[in-house]
Amino acid sequence: MHGEDMRETGSDADAALRRAFAASLGPGAPPRMFFAPGRVNLMGAHLDYNGGPVMPTAIDRGTWIAVRERPDARVSLASTHDAARFEASWRDLPEQRASRWHDYPVGVLREILLHARARGVRLLGLDILFGGNLPIGAGLSSSASICVGTAFALDRVLRLGLEPLERVEAALRAERAFVGVQCGIMDPFAVGFARERSLLWLDCKDRTTEHVPLDLERYSIVLADSLVRRELAQGAFNERVQQCASAFEALQDHQRDAVCLRDVRLETLRAHEHGLEPVIGRRARHVIEEVARTLEARSALLRGDVRAFGGAMTRAHASLRDHFEVSVPELDQLVESAVATEGVCGARLTGAGFGGCVVVLLEKEAEAPLRDRLVREFSARFGRAPHVESFRGDPGPRELPTPR
Ligand code: GLA
Repeated sequence: MHGEDMRETGSDADAALRRAFAASLGPGAPPRMFFAPGRVNLMGAHLDYNGGPVMPTAIDRGTWIAVRERPDARVSLASTHDAARFEASWRDLPEQRASRWHDYPVGVLREILLHARARGVRLLGLDILFGGNLPIGAGLSSSASICVGTAFALDRVLRLGLEPLERVEAALRAERAFVGVQCGIMDPFAVGFARERSLLWLDCKDRTTEHVPLDLERYSIVLADSLVRRELAQGAFNERVQQCASAFEALQDHQRDAVCLRDVRLETLRAHEHGLEPVIGRRARHVIEEVARTLEARSALLRGDVRAFGGAMTRAHASLRDHFEVSVPELDQLVESAVATEGVCGARLTGAGFGGCVVVLLEKEAEAPLRDRLVREFSARFGRAPHVESFRGDPGPRELPTPR
C-alpha cells in the first residue's frame, strides 16, 4: 500500500492524500490527518525476538491517514496505492485475515473495538484513506507504521484516551494475532516511542526504553535501497526465529540462569558449540556477539564517539553476512563501497535482510561523495542504480494541522 520509492516529501504526500480523499469521497468536512513514521534500526540486528537490546530511530517517511466521520456505524478503508477496499460495520469485523493490505488496519480495528467496549465508548462510522512513502519489503517497517498510525488515529478520533504503550501493544497484537507474522517488538516500539535527534534504546527483555542522543547536525543517516525484494523473505525470517529458539533450547541446559538467548554468555557457547549443528552454532554466535556489540555501541554513543558506534555497525554487517546469513551480494557491495568512503563511520544492512536497505552513518560533508560512489560501484556490478536517500529523524505519531 506504500509508494515504491522514498522521494515524495512529507508535505507533498500530505497534500496528495487530502486531494485523493476529496476525489474518492466527495465534498464535505475536510478529513482529520494523521502521520506515523517508519523506522530504521542501527544496532541490535535480529535481537528483539531473542530478548536483546536494539537501537532504532524513526524516519521522516511513513504513513498518512485521512479520517472522516460518516453517519452509519460502518468503517471503510481505502489506500492510494492499492485498489482493494474494505468495508464492514464495527459489529461484523472479520475473524480471519484476507491476505490483502487492509489486514493490518483491520487487525488494529479489532483491538480498538475491544478497548472501546471496555471503556463504553460510542463507535463512530468512519471513512479512512491511507497513503505513504515507505517502500514495502525494504526493511523500514511499513507494517508497524500503518498499525501504530491506525491505533493512534482511531484513539484520537474515538477519544479512547489510550496510553502510548496501549497503542503500541494494539499494533503488535494486530500483526501477530490477526495478520499472523511472528514479529518481534522492535518495530511498533520504534514507531511509537522514537524521538528526533536520538536513537531509541529498547531492551526487549524487560521493555525498558531510553533515548540516546545522536548529533544529527554533524552526522547523517543515509539509506541505500538495493531494490532487491525477496518473496521468500518471510519464510526465511521465521526460519531464523526457529533456529534461535533451537539454539536457546540446546544451550540453556548449560547455563541455568539464562531465560533467553540474549542471556547466554560467549563462554557457554564456546564450551558447547561442538554439540550444536553448525548452522545453529552460527546463529547463536551472531546473537550473543551482537548483544555485546550493541552494549559497546551504546556506551560509545553516550560518550559522543560516533566513529566507534559506526565501527560496531560495520562489524554487525559482517556477522549478519557470515553467521546469520541474511545478506545478499547487493547489500554487501553497498556496505563495502560505503565504508571505503572518507567520512563514513559505519554501514550495515537494516531490517530482516535478504534484500532491502543498507543504513550508513556518516559525517554530513561526506553525503555527496558517498552517493556518487554507491551509485557508481553498484551500477558497474549490477547494471542498475540503488536509491540513495538521506533521512531526517521524526518525532513520532501525530495529528497534522488542517491547512486553512
Ligand atoms: C524484522 C522484524 C523485526 C526484527 C528485524 C531484525 O524487521 O520485523 O522485529 O526482528 O527484522 O532485527
